[in-house]
Amino acid sequence: MKQIVSNILQILFARLHYKLRTKLKMTDNQPLLTNNKILAVAPMMAWTDRHCRYLHRLFSKDALLFTEMISSSAVAIGKQINLLDYSKEEHPIAIQFGGNDPKELATCSEIAKSLNYDEINLNVGCPSPRVQRGEFGASLMEKPTLVASCIKEMRYASGLPITVKCRLGLKGNESKEFLHTFINEVVDAGCQRVYVHARIAVLEGLSASQNRSIPPIQAEKVQELKETFPEIEIVFNGGITNKEDALSIMNWADGVMIGRAAYHNPELLTNISDPDQNMVPSETLEKIKIYLSYMYSQVEKGEKLNRLTRPLLHCFSGKPGAKAYRQVLSDSVKLKANNPQILDEAVNHLGFSI
Ligand SMILES: Cc1cc2nc3c(=O)[nH]c(=O)nc-3n(C[C@H](O)[C@H](O)[C@H](O)COP(=O)(O)O)c2cc1C
Repeated sequence: MKQIVSNILQILFARLHYKLRTKLKMTDNQPLLTNNKILAVAPMMAWTDRHCRYLHRLFSKDALLFTEMISSSAVAIGKQINLLDYSKEEHPIAIQFGGNDPKELATCSEIAKSLNYDEINLNVGCPSPRVQRGEFGASLMEKPTLVASCIKEMRYASGLPITVKCRLGLKGNESKEFLHTFINEVVDAGCQRVYVHARIAVLEGLSASQNRSIPPIQAEKVQELKETFPEIEIVFNGGITNKEDALSIMNWADGVMIGRAAYHNPELLTNISDPDQNMVPSETLEKIKIYLSYMYSQVEKGEKLNRLTRPLLHCFSGKPGAKAYRQVLSDSVKLKANNPQILDEAVNHLGFSI
């Protein structure tokens, strides 16, 4: 009898726990595709700046766009504030902080709230030596209790959805238990979505860039995580380069986060957002025309042309004339003139005029 009561209590407790967690799921203002899944463009330092995000938005109205990782200790003392600027067209936009101090992260989260960001993400996946010296990024996977404190403070300070981007584990800490303990603790603290880069991080002996290619992708481990915790929103990241793979992963994950392939081929974002059609160069040109108006307005505000042309370099990849197009847009003499008309000359090589 005692055993039966204990079993019933256990089941009831598990159900209550499940319900509480399910309640944490984000329901309002979700940046969802028509298949109810998330398409996110990954945070990439020195790449996903505001201009890149503005361009990406033109390629997908629904994608969730991430800032580059911004150091919480810099922002808390009023540095790197320029990295927080963005245009209203970039919504929905998530800001990613790198840090490990709950109070500092709370201050930054308050600032993010005042700037109307839609989501705040904590970086628990960066393996770079500089980040390791600061004891944040991927090394925080070994400190789930500290990450939980950060999440609680960030939630309390901002009221915004707080999410985490992490790896599958660390070299030496690659077990299922290690990952599950981490995920359990951060979700219990109120983390509303986890973006999992489907590789472990190797903290000694590999650079940040090697850490994005040498440890193998282990998609099956992310899938197993989702099966074990169906109530937790899990977005898959790592190695996606085409629409077919993205759509296939969306069959079991809550979404996909794409980094390098989105940067090198922004058309991919349109093809995933609207899978029934494949974008043709004339459609890309239409987006670029809109970006050209943005370039003029930014140059007028004092922005340097080369910062504005950088994200354009990768459009039209593989199309006839793309090499000459890129050459014009990266010609330092032409860029010095700071005249956005350079774009006209560049697209001429593709057989277009603006
Ligand atoms: C140039 C570059 C910079 C990156 N910077 C960040 C960053 O600031 N924060 C972060 O969480 N991940 C960063 N990443 C990792 C990406 O967000 C992503 O996890 C990784 O590239 C794997 O996804 P992909 O295969 O789709 O590119 C960066 C990646 C690249 C290529």
